[in-house]
Amino acid sequence: MTSQQIRQAFFDFFESKKHNIVASAPMVLKTDPTLMFTNAGMNQFKDIFLGNSPAKKPRVADSQKCLRVSGKHNDLEEVGHDTYHHTMFEMLGNWSFGDYFKAEAINWAWEFLTDTLKIDPSKLYATVFEGSKEDGTALDEEAKKLWQNFLPDDRILNGNKKDNFWEMGETGPCGPCSEIHIDLRSDEEIAKLPGRDLVNQDHPLVIEIWNLVFIQFNRKKGGKLEPLPEKHIDTGMGFERLAMVVQGTKSNYDTDVFMPIINALEKITNCTYKKDEKTDIAIRVIADHIRTIAFSITDGQLPSNTGAGYVIRRILRRAVRYGYTFLGAKEPFIHQLLPALISVMGKQYPELLTQKDIIKKVIFEEENSFLRTLETGIKLLNKVISSAQAEKKEEIDGKTVFILYDTYGFPYDLTDLILHENNLKIDKTGYDKAMLEQKTRSQDAASTDTDDWTELIDDKVQEFIGYDYLETQLQITRYRKITEKKKTFFHLIFNFTPFYAESGGQVGDTGYIEANGEKIYILDTQKNTM
Ligand code: SER
Repeated sequence: MTSQQIRQAFFDFFESKKHNIVASAPMVLKTDPTLMFTNAGMNQFKDIFLGNSPAKKPRVADSQKCLRVSGKHNDLEEVGHDTYHHTMFEMLGNWSFGDYFKAEAINWAWEFLTDTLKIDPSKLYATVFEGSKEDGTALDEEAKKLWQNFLPDDRILNGNKKDNFWEMGETGPCGPCSEIHIDLRSDEEIAKLPGRDLVNQDHPLVIEIWNLVFIQFNRKKGGKLEPLPEKHIDTGMGFERLAMVVQGTKSNYDTDVFMPIINALEKITNCTYKKDEKTDIAIRVIADHIRTIAFSITDGQLPSNTGAGYVIRRILRRAVRYGYTFLGAKEPFIHQLLPALISVMGKQYPELLTQKDIIKKVIFEEENSFLRTLETGIKLLNKVISSAQAEKKEEIDGKTVFILYDTYGFPYDLTDLILHENNLKIDKTGYDKAMLEQKTRSQDAASTDTDDWTELIDDKVQEFIGYDYLETQLQITRYRKITEKKKTFFHLIFNFTPFYAESGGQVGDTGYIEANGEKIYILDTQKNTM
């Protein structure tokens, strides 16, 4: 099956189980102060889980663009170095909002994998939550019993809170989960060591493919678990990993999701994949990062010097740097990968096609300016090297290396590499100290603190009346306090509102509310102040 057929098979399967297939939400979040990027399929349904807004349909399924490069879920450092982590990935998911629960979620997951996709059941393992004293939660007996219908006891494993209790972030909807893992090693390897010893041990061929989460709590600020009014299902299956399983490869990058991009990269840079480990890492980094950068741009997040834009800029620079150092790419090249990316993902995500010119232009300009930064950095570094050699020093002080990185954007590992070639070392302790001081400074300046919602009126329906009215009498049903960069804002939820919220690229309405003669201005959500 091609990856497109696998995705379609998932949609068809869940449609046959009465799910509504919905579109992916944007990968860049502007409306949730607890998250910078969509890190899981369930983010767009958070308010439904919390009971703050009603579900339009009780069952839905989709493929969600996710990005795990900041906060609680951050895989950036692994990406490229292993064969199964990504910055941006697609998560296939099915949801029940207060409708079906554990039995259907487990039975259907099993049916889809072993019947629809014909995955060998003898290669599969399931994990269940062992319970947590700290949270006062018990072993998930129910999930265990359900798995016993399909799996022998020695392939059902108990897992701890880290692996088997899923949380979106520090606060928010959460619950015990049951993961499905697969062992893709050869029979000889399996005979030597059973897969159960390798589940959740970071083995590249014994990997988690599907996470079934039984959402039943809200983690409050301060850590307390509060039961939700209804129980929900949130499942997430790594699409790229599933493609690897179905296509019988040993790496996500060997599937048709990545190979067209890798082949294009080989042509552009005149390098060959699978000849040398360092080159391979660089190729994987770039093949991964082009997806993140392109989709961030289509979702409205351009590279910049602050917040989410800075994260994207650093990812793009990471790709340029790997290309520069390991593939000898001294001219902009990443933007040239766009046609290959479109050939792989343009059908499911047509925004790639409609916005291709802007994506190409932004990437080209970013690459160009960072390559100039690299040139400037190399000139500065050469001066540092000459004077160190004249003074017969063996080590360059950490603060100088940090200034190269922090002020000139010149990456540490490139400095390290060049110094090494000149028989010089970095004073790593001094560098770490300078980095720590800078981090403390920026954390103080940028931390966001989000309080729990305070409910004033039990009214979960928010009605938009802006097509008919520009002013109205309203009531505030809930509010919460956000502290960001040492300023305090409030999110207010009204029972009905003439304010159109920012959405789909449209700027949010502005205006004011008035009570007892006092006016409070409502600002654009882009500025995080409504
Ligand atoms: N929320 C779970 C995860 O991201 C399942 O979708 O793994």
